[in-house]
Amino acid sequence: MKDGSSATANLVGAAEAWVTTPEWMDFLRPDSPAHRHKLLERELYLRLWAPYVRPGCRVLDIGGGIGRFAVWCLDRGCDVHLVDADAISLEVARGHARGRPGTLTTHHTTAEALPHVEADVVIAAELLCYVHDAGAVLAGLRPRLVPGGTLLFSVEARWGWGMALDAPTGHLGALLDDGVLHVPGDRYVRTYDEVDVRELFDGWPLPVLERTHYVLSGPFQQVAGDVDVEALFAWEQRLRSHPIFGKLNRAWVGVATG
Ligand SMILES: C[S@@+](CC[C@H](N)C(=O)[O-])C[C@H]1O[C@@H](n2cnc3c(N)ncnc32)[C@H](O)[C@@H]1O
Repeated sequence: MKDGSSATANLVGAAEAWVTTPEWMDFLRPDSPAHRHKLLERELYLRLWAPYVRPGCRVLDIGGGIGRFAVWCLDRGCDVHLVDADAISLEVARGHARGRPGTLTTHHTTAEALPHVEADVVIAAELLCYVHDAGAVLAGLRPRLVPGGTLLFSVEARWGWGMALDAPTGHLGALLDDGVLHVPGDRYVRTYDEVDVRELFDGWPLPVLERTHYVLSGPFQQVAGDVDVEALFAWEQRLRSHPIFGKLNRAWVGVATG
């Protein structure tokens, strides 16, 4: 994380948000206004990922934030190594880990300088779209996977991302040009279409790659309204198979094998 001009913008934005809206940042607290939404969103991921996380296995969660996936793994007795560039997120994650059956080790470092940990499962949820060089991060994490291990990942999607309620205003040109959006001091996002994802994972078997997040955080959030988990899965399924709306997913969720 060398300069203040690209991926580090996300850290600056996060530091400010921990001061101004901490209740939104620590969404694992049941009284957070984002709690229900973020855990429903986790269900979307786990529908595809849960079968790959054996109880008690070792997990390396990169850019794991406050531990949305780490705590779920800890509840399955896993040995979780949580990496994040944001020290406050790690401190909050340690609080959420207390009393759970698994063990948590936090590493205050970056995806570009990973600790020397070998894991059965690596999680990179909503991370590879925020780093300066996702290919380099993938190359660096591959040796951390045991042979036959699994990488669970998600990235922001090119065509649906810009229609989400939380997209910043005034950046349509960036989305139309190269799909890389950079708001200095706020955020840096590289959005992916299917070809981009497959190119990034060239040489990795990709048993799962799915379009997701149409409703929660996606372009259809507003019109779908409040949903429970059954409605969420049903809307997602219908939108994914729709001839026009199907291409407007907010995210890609995948499983790659090392
Ligand atoms: C959108 S959040 C996702 C958090 C978590 N994976 C989840 O899904 O709840 C992105 C996280 O990646 C972290 N991050 C961004 N760039 C990073 C980097 N280069 N190295 C390590 N962490 C990074 C941020 O601090 C943040 O916690």
